[in-house]
Amino acid sequence: MALPEPAADGTVLITGASSGLGAEFARQFAARGYGVALLARREERLRTLASELTARHGVRAEPVVCDLLDVEARDRLRERLAGLGLRVDVLVNNAGFATGGAFHEADYQAEIDQLRLLCEAYVTLTAQFLPGMVARGSGCVINVASTAGFQPLPHSAGYAAAKAHALSFSEAVHAEVRRLGVTVSALCPGPVHTELFEKYDHPVERLPGIAWIHADQCVREGIEGAARGKRVVVPGLQVRAGAPFARYMPRFVQLPLVERLFR
Ligand SMILES: NC(=O)c1ccc[n+]([C@@H]2O[C@H](COP(=O)([O-])OP(=O)(O)OC[C@H]3O[C@@H](n4cnc5c(N)ncnc54)[C@H](OP(=O)(O)O)[C@@H]3O)[C@@H](O)[C@H]2O)c1
Repeated sequence: MALPEPAADGTVLITGASSGLGAEFARQFAARGYGVALLARREERLRTLASELTARHGVRAEPVVCDLLDVEARDRLRERLAGLGLRVDVLVNNAGFATGGAFHEADYQAEIDQLRLLCEAYVTLTAQFLPGMVARGSGCVINVASTAGFQPLPHSAGYAAAKAHALSFSEAVHAEVRRLGVTVSALCPGPVHTELFEKYDHPVERLPGIAWIHADQCVREGIEGAARGKRVVVPGLQVRAGAPFARYMPRFVQLPLVERLFR
């Protein structure tokens, strides 16, 4: 069983739970009877969602207000969860944002923050909670990567590179721990309707409607894939069908095409 059974003192820690995929992970895990710890910066949203989930599903839902770019606060998370009497049985590394545009014109600080949120925070939280899972012989980490990590993306260079890191890191660690009862699953969505592209103009917004899926489908396939112990999950039939082109098309053909599409 790649997902531990729900337990009174266990929780699913979900980063970026105040909107989009993170909030949907919280809803779907709670509906399956799991207690959830909801991490993000916007406290009001977390409190509202936590109350909703407890009322609807009778599970323990804890808001955990934290800016993952604040190293001190982030490094205290294991201690903070333990202080609440909670053991992290499932970790969903999901919080993120996406920059777009040519790198030479980019907001440098946003690029660095994106890298720290999508790479450093994923690694730090995995380092905090994976050893406990291995010691118990049970647990699951879902790292939300992206199909953007399947190839370099001109006009979203930093985002795609960060997602390639999440994917590669997940696959390698999964190979290390799968025989020890723990799954590390990389969820690689294509475009999903969320708040992600509201903050920064992003070329993905130009992709045709057929490429997009809804958050509930994305998360359902992500949880079911992790429950089956899958290393990589690409939600949506149409996205899965296109994935080999992204992954294996020769770069000398792919890069000029994508550069023109995303310019
Ligand atoms: N939507 C897509 O098309 C798509 C496709 C592939 C992969 N993804 C990935 O899916 C993940 C979730 O994105 P989404 O689409 O659900 O976007 P979203 O609706 O914008 O949600 C992003 C979440 O990240 C949190 N967050 C941002 N900065 C944070 C920080 N410094 N500390 C703590 N939390 C922070 C936000 O909460 P606060 O602002 O309250 O902190 C929010 O809850 C991201 O990793 C994204 O790259 C999305």
